[in-house]
Amino acid sequence: MTSRRSSSDHRTTPGHVSPAPSYASSQLTTSSRPNPVTAAAKSFAGIFSGCFSPPESGNSKSLGDSEEFKSSSTVSNASRAGSQRGRGSNRGISISSYNLIQGKEPGIVKFTMEEIFQVTRNFSPSFKIGQGGFGAVYKAKLLNGTVVAVKRAKKSVYEKHLGVEFQSEIQTLSRVEHLNLVKFYGYLEQGDERIVVVEYVPNGTLREHLDCIHGNILDLASRLDVAIDVAHAITYLHMYIDHPIIHRDIKSSNILLTENFRAKVADFGFARQAPDSDSGMTHVSTQVKGTAGYLDPEYLKTYQLTEKSDVYSFGVLLVELVTGRRPIEPKFELRERITAKWAMKRFIEGDAISVLDPRLDQTAANTLALEKILELSLQCLAPRRQSRPNMKRCAEILWAIRKDHRELSASNFRSLSTTSQRSTSIKDSEGIK
Ligand SMILES: Nc1ncnc2c1ncn2[C@@H]1O[C@H](COP(=O)(O)OP(=O)(O)OP(=O)(O)O)[C@@H](O)[C@H]1O
Ligand SMILES: [Mg+2]
Repeated sequence: MTSRRSSSDHRTTPGHVSPAPSYASSQLTTSSRPNPVTAAAKSFAGIFSGCFSPPESGNSKSLGDSEEFKSSSTVSNASRAGSQRGRGSNRGISISSYNLIQGKEPGIVKFTMEEIFQVTRNFSPSFKIGQGGFGAVYKAKLLNGTVVAVKRAKKSVYEKHLGVEFQSEIQTLSRVEHLNLVKFYGYLEQGDERIVVVEYVPNGTLREHLDCIHGNILDLASRLDVAIDVAHAITYLHMYIDHPIIHRDIKSSNILLTENFRAKVADFGFARQAPDSDSGMTHVSTQVKGTAGYLDPEYLKTYQLTEKSDVYSFGVLLVELVTGRRPIEPKFELRERITAKWAMKRFIEGDAISVLDPRLDQTAANTLALEKILELSLQCLAPRRQSRPNMKRCAEILWAIRKDHRELSASNFRSLSTTSQRSTSIKDSEGIK
């Protein structure tokens, strides 16, 4: 059985990204494109020059710090000065000035340790739902009945560098609100405890669904919906808030699904404010952070962070969505180990179908959508950030792909049912004879 949302579930992102009707689906049809495959192939050689293959565990829950780039982040003095110029007063906030944010953000609750102990039954293992680089995650019910996820920082992590990271997460979470971003309810900062309380998203991570851990196969229509939700969330972070935010850790284990298979992007621990284009900044200098396999090679080389690093990670995520494979698959033979590299090569050679997740049907609609999604991935994975589309454009393209996919699926379904009706009536008439 496949999980599928109702086709009538036309989703928009209220007040944020409204796909214009002009997203001509023909923009992506094979005939109309100015041979992007050849064009992209020219620059392809450089795409993965910065890739590396550290070991990645099969189980996202067991990922430890050692597997990821979680060194503390520093902004160069020049960048820091630049980032503070002309920005809001909640820049560079220290713990001591934190109450200022509280005053400005009336919706944020500052929890007490007693409340947290009470709702998590003293961090009972039976309430624990996950473990990540930040620490343990617990499911809890607040006194007002709201079901939440309580993220408790590991002490060892906090001792090293979490102070900055925690503040980063609080600042970011408090400023954003979008249907496709995990909602922030409150936090606790007391002694060496650092806790964030966020919306509980009940249906597991995207990675778990691609692994079929929940039993059902996520069909391509649902995967396209997820991609669009994520694109909307990131577009919002990049373009529709006062001080744009670069997520920096877009990956399938940071995408949580609701019961209706709507996607919510989580984990803003690494989020960084985007360069301030008003003051002429083109990038923020920072030590590399993110997760192996999703990292923008240009960022890795130069430490210069822009929104396009998120676009690169999104390109990796798109490949993950259509292939079902993790970005790095250490168990596969060398040429298939870096999934995006392998898939792009096959796509350029005209053999896209060979990378389709074997769990998905090779229907005409799926095959066409696969090619178009890989074409978009190729653009997102361009070695130079200038050649990558922005997230808004990605959302528009995906919207058009979904429209074509729905239409083709419906027409195939219609012709199939007509054929089966015809064969039934032939059988009936044969029966009469
Ligand atoms: N808001 C939430 N609602 C429901 N489950 C959650 C929520 N946040 C996290 N989880 C669960 O807890 C697990 C660990 O989450 P966490 O964000 O700490 O780590 P991660 O995303 O797996 O890795 P990383 O630390 O690299 O981000 C997730 O995989 C998910 O299963
Ligand atoms: Mg996470």
